[in-house]
Amino acid sequence: MSTLVNIRTRPLMPGFGAEILGVDLATADEETLKGVVDTFHRHGAIMLRDQKMSPGQLVDFISNFGEPEDHTLKEFTVPGHPKVYTLSNRVVDGKPIGAHNDGVGWHTDYSYKAEPVMATMLYAVEVPPEGSDTLVADCVAAWNALPPEKQAELDGKILHHSYQYFMSTREYGARELSDELKAQNPDVYHPLVRTHPADGRKALWPSTGTVIEVMGMPKQEGLDLVEEMVEFATQDRFVYRHKWRKGDIMMWDNRCTLHTGTLYDDTKYIREMHRLWVRGDKPY
Ligand SMILES: [Fe+2]
Repeated sequence: MSTLVNIRTRPLMPGFGAEILGVDLATADEETLKGVVDTFHRHGAIMLRDQKMSPGQLVDFISNFGEPEDHTLKEFTVPGHPKVYTLSNRVVDGKPIGAHNDGVGWHTDYSYKAEPVMATMLYAVEVPPEGSDTLVADCVAAWNALPPEKQAELDGKILHHSYQYFMSTREYGARELSDELKAQNPDVYHPLVRTHPADGRKALWPSTGTVIEVMGMPKQEGLDLVEEMVEFATQDRFVYRHKWRKGDIMMWDNRCTLHTGTLYDDTKYIREMHRLWVRGDKPY
């Protein structure tokens, strides 16, 4: 790898994630942006405070990581910016501008797709003073903390994921799918233990919501195992909890993490985030 510019960082938590200091993404030069991308691939998550980014600048920035991914539901993308999705409880002219209470429950984004998104980025446009935290679990640390016998038991297991099941059962906004959405989102099969293509590190990679079975196991036994592994990977010792400030950008690597959001008092506060995704590849 070529020599990279010196990016100042501090860990988000010991051994995981990096806060990048002293970089203004809207004006950063190409070398600095390369350093930011490299920091992301090595640390599992990055966070930068005090950014000021228009939707167009967010798309430009995320394009340094790969191709921006489309969003399954189109109604909450920012007008004129189909790659930028709004998470919000804000209502304008009687219409919600974003998805509300999405992403509560430990998961990895697009787990129901053959090629789940590699990275998720959130940009805080407006945030409540309390609640709406984002939690990211370091699934490499979780894998490494398992005893070898357990690792041997889990390695090679395949999970069956279903978007249809997910959308019919989720706590907020359960819905029946149109035939078009069904056709666009057939069931997929992913490993429970995922290998990171950058350096071969392994991550425990279960998810909640979309898994309907572990292949080769009785249904309930398989689901119990997935739940046990989610619980294991999301213990406090593996989890970074982000308290948002306006202007924060956070990105995590979905190949080696799980994440969840926490609720907030939506009768009192407005939350508005922009979410972007980077296209991923087939997990192995
Ligand atoms: Fe998510």
